[in-house]
Amino acid sequence: MAHLGKRVVLIGTGFVGSSYAFALLNQGVTEELVLIDVNQEKAEGDAMDLNHGLPFSPSPTKIWFGDYRDCENADLVVITAGANQKPGETRLDLVHKNMKIFESIVSEVMKSGFNGIFLVATNPVDVLTYATWKFSGLPHERVIGSGTILDTARFRYLLGQYFQVDARNVHAYIIGEHGDTELPVWSHADIGGKAVTEFIRERKQYKQEDLETIFANVRDAAYHIIERKGATYYGIAMGLARLTKAILQNENSVLTVSAYLNGEYGHADIYIGVPAIVNRGGIREIVELKLSETEKAKFSHSATVLKNVLNPFFG
Ligand code: 2OP
Repeated sequence: MAHLGKRVVLIGTGFVGSSYAFALLNQGVTEELVLIDVNQEKAEGDAMDLNHGLPFSPSPTKIWFGDYRDCENADLVVITAGANQKPGETRLDLVHKNMKIFESIVSEVMKSGFNGIFLVATNPVDVLTYATWKFSGLPHERVIGSGTILDTARFRYLLGQYFQVDARNVHAYIIGEHGDTELPVWSHADIGGKAVTEFIRERKQYKQEDLETIFANVRDAAYHIIERKGATYYGIAMGLARLTKAILQNENSVLTVSAYLNGEYGHADIYIGVPAIVNRGGIREIVELKLSETEKAKFSHSATVLKNVLNPFFG
C-alpha cells in the first residue's frame, strides 16, 4: 500500500494491542495504522471494527489488516505480541516463550527493509527490548521499551489520590525493572514543586508508612488486576499511545521508558526503566537523576536481576 503519512504498524492485536489501537484512533495520533497478528482473523476483525469508529474520530486514520511487508515504510513498529502472565506468574517467567516469538517477529520486520523505531511492550519488557535491539541491529536509541511508564502512571495516580491533587501535578518516577524489583524515586518526588517528603514532615495526617503502602500497591498492581480480570490492558495501552505521540510529534517529552544504558546510572549494556527524553529520533537522552544511596542500591539490584535473565541468551 502507498505510504500516505505517519505509519504505525502494530504487531499483536490481543487485549493490549487492540486497546492501544483504540486509544490511537480516539486521539488521532497517526495517519496510518496497520494491524498484524498470528491470528489473522482477529487482526482483520479489529481493523473492520476500528474503521467503523472513524466517523467519530478526531482526524482521519487509514487502518488496515496487513503483513510484514507493510513495515518497510513504517515510522514506528509497536510489538505487543506474546504470552501474558497467568495468575501467580511473574513477568520474568514469560521470558522463554516470548524470546522465541520475538526472534521471529523482529527478523520478519527487518526483512521488510524497516528502518524506523521499535516500541516494545511485551513482558518481560526490559529483556525483550534488549532482545529487539540485538535481533534488529538498529541503533539503540531507536529501540524503546514501555519500561516503567505504566508504573509511573500508577504511582502518580495513587499519590494524587492520597494527597488529593490532580495526578498530572504529581511528578514522581518509578524506575528499574518493569516488575518485582522496581523502585520509587522518593528523593525526586514532588507535587507542584514541593517535595513529597516535605509534605510528610509538615503535616500530621500524612505518614511515611502510607507511602510504603502506596509503592507496594504500584509494584503489585498487575497482580491485583490479573487476579480480578485476567489481564491488564487499558493503562498500558494509554501509556503506549502517549509514547507514540511523543515520538511521532517530536515532543522531546520526558517519559520513563526502558532505555539502553551506556554508563548512565553506573550501568551499561542493559535496557531498564529510567526517565528519558523521547522524540522523533527515539531516545534523545537519558535523564540522570542524583539518586539517594538506598535508591542506587535498589536500582543496582534491579539491573543485576535483569542481567542475570539476559545472560543465558546474550551473555
Ligand atoms: C502491567 O504492569 C502486566 O506488565 C503488565 O500491567
